[in-house]
Amino acid sequence: MIQFGIIARNFSSSSAVQSAIKNVTVIGGGLMGSGIAQVSAQAGQNVTLVDVSSDVLAKAQKSIGTNLGRVVKKVYKDNPAEGEKFVAESLGRIKTLTDPSEAAKSADLVVEAIVENMEVKHKLFKQLDGVAPSHTIFASNTSSLSINEIASVVNRKDKFGGLHFFNPVPVMKLLEVVRGAETNDATYQAMMSWGKSVGKTCITCKDTPGFVVNRLLVPYICEAIRLFERGDASARDIDIAMKLGAGYPMGPLELADYVGLDTNKFILDGWHKKYPDQPLFNPIPLLDKLVSEGKLGVKSGEGFYKYDKK
Ligand code: CAA
Ligand code: NAD
Repeated sequence: MIQFGIIARNFSSSSAVQSAIKNVTVIGGGLMGSGIAQVSAQAGQNVTLVDVSSDVLAKAQKSIGTNLGRVVKKVYKDNPAEGEKFVAESLGRIKTLTDPSEAAKSADLVVEAIVENMEVKHKLFKQLDGVAPSHTIFASNTSSLSINEIASVVNRKDKFGGLHFFNPVPVMKLLEVVRGAETNDATYQAMMSWGKSVGKTCITCKDTPGFVVNRLLVPYICEAIRLFERGDASARDIDIAMKLGAGYPMGPLELADYVGLDTNKFILDGWHKKYPDQPLFNPIPLLDKLVSEGKLGVKSGEGFYKYDKK
């Protein structure tokens, strides 16, 4: 019930809501960036998708094509010709680049979805601030870092905010819109309208660790990993328990693999450093071990479970 029709609803609502933002640059073509590029293109916006790796960009284009096919199966099931047109037009709106500076020059909005690391994000935004037009809004899709801290390196702090999407982006309906201390009203309103234009239900968040969803979800996932680490239950049983006992669509360990164990670790390590007295944020030896072994979850082919390598 949760899944059925979600894409269709996203698609139809995205056609209905207009945003002044027409040119979107998405930086980071991984799990999240590819989804953000897809929903923006579906909504009729011109998208430039940027990654340091051209292999990642090729993979992103392929997965966007596959996921648009899922939309077509539902929305255009009685009109395959229209469906083909929709896929071709959406894909045609996405260009790819490996140079973020070049991509930012024509952007109304830049959404950053690169690795969850403050230094790397600072380096990128400093670079972008020097080249993007003065009207360009900058947003980070960070899961756990402070928007104010990310924005500290740019001059346009009034045009900086958080746009926190959920994985898988084409399916999950929520967008957390984060107001930083200096985000002005016009930027906040533009981010809210843009979020609606790409089919999302927007909520407003303060710049607090994990905003709303991750402040609740990450400690839950971490407690599940600790439960498994202690040997209190098998991975399969923990996941079955939360699916059948609490009605969650995925169990916590499946979800950890889905999000990426590296991303989970980046989040936890960052919070532990900042809040060393909070036991919920303590490092988890098993998580550290899996990440050090390159077992990052679905994206690497193994985490708590094994997957067909993507
Ligand atoms: N892209 C596009 N569509 C997708 C998709 C993807 N990557 N994955 C699944 N879908 C679509 C399918 O086409 C299918 O659509 P229909 O039912 O309309 O045909 C629907 O979603 C369900 O897919 P499946 O039947 O293949 O699989 P499922 O029923 O197991 O659902 C799921 C998959 C939607 C991912 C579901 O398991 C779910 O909601 N899981 C929880 C996801 C979640 O909690 N996400 C948040 C993670 S936390 C986060 O993102 C924040 C952060 O900062 C870390
Ligand atoms: P990912 O590892 O799948 O993708 C990150 C991409 O960024 C990689 O392809 C990498 O090559 C690229 N990259 C790194 N540095 C770059 C740079 N300087 N310029 C251009 N590209 C660069 O990661 P992801 O899961 O998509 O996460 C991206 C961001 O989104 C993180 O901040 C993460 O916390 C956040 N986020 C993740 C999830 C999730 O479920 N995985 C959900 C919401 C938010």
